[in-house]
Formats: sequence, structure tokens, C-alpha cells
Amino acid sequence: MKKTSVLELLKGEKTSQKVLLKGWVRTFRANRFISINDGSTLNNIQCVLNFENTEEAVLKRIATGASLSVEGTLVESQGKGQNVEIQIEHLQILGDSNPEEYPIQPKRHSLEFLRENAHLRIRTNTFAAVMRVRSALSFAIHQYFQENGFNHVHTPIITGSDAEGAGEMFGVSALNKNTPPRKEDGSIDFSKDFFGKETHLTVSGQLEAETYAMALGKVYTFGPTFRAENSNTSRHLAEFWMVEPEVAFNDLNDNMDLSESFIKYTLKYILENCRKDLEFLEQRLLQEEKAKPAAERSEMTLTEKLKFVLENEFKRISYTEAFEILRNCKANKKKKFKYPIVEWGVDLQSEHERYLVEKHFKSPVILFDYPAAIKAFYMRLNEDGKTVRAMDVLFPGIGEMVGGSQREERLEVLKEKIKALDIDEKELWWYLDTRKYGTAVHSGFGLGFERLVLFVTGMSNIRDVIPFPRTPLNASF
Ligand code: 4AD
Ligand code: MG
Repeated sequence: MKKTSVLELLKGEKTSQKVLLKGWVRTFRANRFISINDGSTLNNIQCVLNFENTEEAVLKRIATGASLSVEGTLVESQGKGQNVEIQIEHLQILGDSNPEEYPIQPKRHSLEFLRENAHLRIRTNTFAAVMRVRSALSFAIHQYFQENGFNHVHTPIITGSDAEGAGEMFGVSALNKNTPPRKEDGSIDFSKDFFGKETHLTVSGQLEAETYAMALGKVYTFGPTFRAENSNTSRHLAEFWMVEPEVAFNDLNDNMDLSESFIKYTLKYILENCRKDLEFLEQRLLQEEKAKPAAERSEMTLTEKLKFVLENEFKRISYTEAFEILRNCKANKKKKFKYPIVEWGVDLQSEHERYLVEKHFKSPVILFDYPAAIKAFYMRLNEDGKTVRAMDVLFPGIGEMVGGSQREERLEVLKEKIKALDIDEKELWWYLDTRKYGTAVHSGFGLGFERLVLFVTGMSNIRDVIPFPRTPLNASF
């Protein structure tokens, strides 16, 4: 017989039919009711055992976490809580689980405890829901770009240029760690390394994506990126996934429009396609919020938050306007900020971003035209000579969701910037070629995928929305 899934069975269309199901025991009560989950949906299916026909030895092995195969008839359920159930006719234990040792008991576990058991935490309702939503979000992202004429580009993960300046990089080397070849001055001789030069894990696929946008027009990358910054926060990972569209002939306004339409599409997709998991995550969040002091509780439920973002326009303001709002706000005057806002040109910290988004505007905000000195070399210089066409999309509870810009398309201006920052022009010869041959206005951005998953699932720590998080001092599993 062909095996079916819990999702399929709960639709109730197979009533009175013989079915075969394989899954894991969630609970077993009264020596009779086995609740089975197979990951296809949040819900379990109740399977009813006729224990007079079941050997004592088999009964004992039906424990939380064990894998089973059951064959039986799908019938309408007599009991409360489910419409259908399986009357078991044949049961086989596929894999035992020792109930005394199995860490995932049918009770509430702390997220910290589950992080230490990341290989098993996916067997809880919370993580299964988060990871199904994560998968759906990934699909929605590809669907948005594919439907809108973008080409997916697989940019390299090992990079030979470390010029982007987006963060500290991890080295990639095949040299013997204990006895690497050395130059006369004692430094490691990377010309003897695998690639004949020093290489790193990429911090972003942008520079390569730009070269592709200059031929395919609209492209996007969606891959893992790596940053060796020592930021132990609930918003940073050392390995995370980034979505980076890049579009020829788009200016900064087009870029802002794209980011807003793209994010809204993915939220709409989740609201329409992940109802069950969202409802569960919404309840989980309500429970979590109850434990907080009243003043810190969110006024909106998870679904309300998603709808709010979907139905409202993102506020667009320049860095200079934001700077004035922050400088004159009560929090700043009463010295409530850890980093007081005094002089134009300072980089905004997450406390400032969150003030703008959560207290002042109460909606996502796109900040643009940042001071050149705090942004990357490739961003287009404005006529004022001191700001660049940068944009950050800031989200409630998250802070920076997107970072992007219109790119500097003028070869001479770009060269000046590179020189001023002491970057070796030779390193970037291929990047500069895009400005030499058929240069054009173009723009793009990077969205931190896990930050989007955080927002959509209502989870509060980024370590809980990626299967196996990599953070400082943690690369288990
Ligand atoms: O602002 P960032 O550094 O921008 C870039 O890397 C550009 N090259 C993107 C582009 O224009 N194509 O990073 C983009 C986004 C951030 O807004 C944030 O959401 C996320 O990536 N991000 C991180 N997410 C998790 N952990 C980290 N350590 C992150 N650093 C950045
Ligand atoms: Mg940024």
C-alpha cells in the first residue's frame, strides 16, 4: 500500500479507506490512543489501538519519539478534538525511543534547552512550525523574483576579494595549519595555497551580482553569507542567508519600491499559505508576552502585525530628517540613549532605529541618503558631496531588515572613493570594468533572510529561526 501523510488524512477525504501511515509518536495514553506526527502539518493524528490484540511487548515499545508504521481504516472520530482517526489493524515499531532518555518530552521546554538539542528541537511544534514557515518564505522569495523577470544567479561562496568592507571575514585555506609556508618576513605565503592567493568566505554576493545585472538586467542571489564579527546579539549570526536583488537602470526610488513590494509579497504569501502554523506561533507569542511587564507587551498579535505592515506604506525619510527627529526627541534630551545624538554624521545604533520605528512612526521606515563616511565605497555620491544614495529598511522589533543603495556608476568617482579608502584598485579590476564598458545607473539591496523569518514567526532570537545557528563560540552539530 502507498503511504499517506497526516496532512492528507486530516482532510477527511479518505474516510472508510484503508491507509498506511509512517511517523513518530507524540503521546500514548490509556494503552490505546497513539498521537502520531509526521511533519506534514502541525497537527497529529489520533490512532486507536485494539490493545487486546496487541502483545504486551509491543505495547511497551510505543513511547514518545519512537517511529511507527500503522495500517488501518480511517474513520470518523467518536472523541473530541479530531474529526477523523485511524483504527489500527496492523502496527509495526520501526525505531524505538527510550522514554527515560529522550530529551523531547511532551511538555514545554525552554528555547535555551532546545538550542542545546538543535538536532532534536525540530520535533517540537514550535520549531516544526518555524521551519515550515521558513521553507515557505524561501519559496515565496523565489516566486516573487521569478514572476517579475529576475534571473537567479549563484554567486561564489569562496571569494578572492575582501574589498566589500561589509564585515570581518573568515579565511579559507588548504595550507597545513601547523607548518604553513612562510615568506621571508615571516608572514604566511598564500601564493602556495590552493588558489594561489588569500581567500575568504563571502560576506555578500553583491559585487558579482552587479556584473550579472549589467547583462541580464534583473538578477538576484539568495545564498549563505559569513561574517566573523563578534556580535553576540539576538539579531546576528556568523552564517546567515541573504537575498540580494540587483537591477540595471533602477535608481534609489525604484530600489525602495522594489524592497517594499518584495517584502509585502512574502508576507502576503505566508498569511495565505501558512495559516495553521501562524495561528500556532501567534498563540506561542501571546504566552511569551504574558510573562512580560505590561508596558513592554506588544499591542498587536502576530497576524495583526503582518497585516499592519502589509496594509501601510513604509515611511521614507532621509538620514538628515531622522537625525533631527532623534536629536530633538525626549529620549535624547533626557540622555536615555546609550549613544547620544549630537553631531550630524554619526552612525545610527539599533536603539535609534528602534526609536524611529517603534516609538515615532510605529511602522517600517526606509531611511535614505546616509552620510558617505559611514557607508560602503560603492554607493552613489549625491550632489551635496557628503551623502550617498544608501537605504536601510527598518522594522519594528527587528531593526535593520534591508541594507542597499544606488551604486556609483561613474568610473572616476568610484576610483576616487577606492583610493580614499586605501583599497587596492587592482583587487577590483573586474568590478571597475562594469563602469568602463556600458556603465549604467543600477541599484540593489540585501535582505537578511533570518531577520525576515524572525519577523514573520514572532520568535525573538535569530538562533531559533535557522536550523543550526553559528555564533561566536558555537558551531556544534
Ligand atoms: O547591510 P548589509 O551589510 O548589506 C550588504 O551586505 C550589501 N552588500 C547588500 C546589497 O546591497 N546587496 O547586509 C544586508 C542585510 C542587513 O540589512 C541585515 O538584514 C542582514 O543582511 N545581516 C545580518 N543578518 C544576520 N546576521 C548578521 N550578522 C547580519 N549582518 C547583516
Ligand atoms: Mg547594513
